Amino acid sequence: MSEAIVEILGLRKVYDGKNPVIAVDGIDLHVPAGLIYGLLGPNGAGKTTTISIATTRAIPTAGSVRIAGVDVVAHPALARRSIGVVPQYNTLDRSCTVAENIRFHCRYFGMTTAESNTRTAQLLEQFRLSDRATAYPQALSGGLAQRLQIARAIAHHPRVLFLDEPSAGLDPQSRIAMWEAVQGLRGEGITVVLTTHYMEEADELCDRLAIIDHGKILIEDTPAALKASIGGDKIYDLRMRDLHESRQLEDRLRKTDGVTSVEAVQGGLRVLARAQDGLLAKVVTTANEFGLQDVTTTEPSLETVFIRLTGRDLRE
Ligand SMILES: Nc1ncnc2c1ncn2[C@@H]1O[C@H](COP(=O)(O)OP(=O)(O)O)[C@@H](O)[C@H]1O
Ligand SMILES: [Mg+2]
Repeated sequence: MSEAIVEILGLRKVYDGKNPVIAVDGIDLHVPAGLIYGLLGPNGAGKTTTISIATTRAIPTAGSVRIAGVDVVAHPALARRSIGVVPQYNTLDRSCTVAENIRFHCRYFGMTTAESNTRTAQLLEQFRLSDRATAYPQALSGGLAQRLQIARAIAHHPRVLFLDEPSAGLDPQSRIAMWEAVQGLRGEGITVVLTTHYMEEADELCDRLAIIDHGKILIEDTPAALKASIGGDKIYDLRMRDLHESRQLEDRLRKTDGVTSVEAVQGGLRVLARAQDGLLAKVVTTANEFGLQDVTTTEPSLETVFIRLTGRDLRE
């Protein structure tokens, strides 16, 4: 595996108060350089807190984060040179134009006026914002504002870009444009760490991801490996009229060639199976003998993985 550009060790964050909240509960994470890396988890999982610490916006209770080898607590100013951030909420300067938002960021990071102008023009072009250079952020659609935030965040050539819920509030078309913009960063050697509670986004965009819940990492792998861990290519959810003989049905199905597992779920059975011609028909024929009401077929998704690990749905 290549060098870890983001190295998180034993990270913990407790928000003190009358009822202290353990937002991050011992996270270890190694993000190899050059990847698009996801933190997938439901609201309140601790994603934003983790990103806030990694980007020097919050102080950990315990543990450490190194970005390109630099400890973010010990050397925040130095670490910030390697970090670009797009927070969940729009932080564009409304009193500045689109171009000025980028140019002032460049100046802040020490570029000369000439360098700042060149970099701004190049980013406007790259993010297809040139024709909006003199507009104000409030005149931009959500999708364009998000692209501008990304353009601004990478203006000083950071090694790592952190995106917190980059597609929250975007329409489907803008979301896809944003994904393309993020994928375009691969060629520039920028490592991307993003948080999301959308499993489709994690699946489509991320090379690897960590599923996080209640401040802990539950599992970490490539999306394909996570889905494969479910142990089947197809999921048949059988809704039964009554469950009196469902143990017998379970046994019959388990003996069916191609079925990898059968588990009782509310109102019926969940069958995992290999993709195989004729298998669904066989399962339905058997289940019919026991009062099958309905069958739905799906393929394992990251949602299935999350449910398997937590017994809950990502949206709950
Ligand atoms: N500033 C804060 N003060 C107190 N509690 C907080 C604060 N920020 C977040 N929390 C709590 O910490 C937990 C993790 O929140 P957060 O990191 O925002 O999760 P996520 O981004 O995954 O939704 C939640 O229970 C949240 O209510
Ligand atoms: Mg959040």
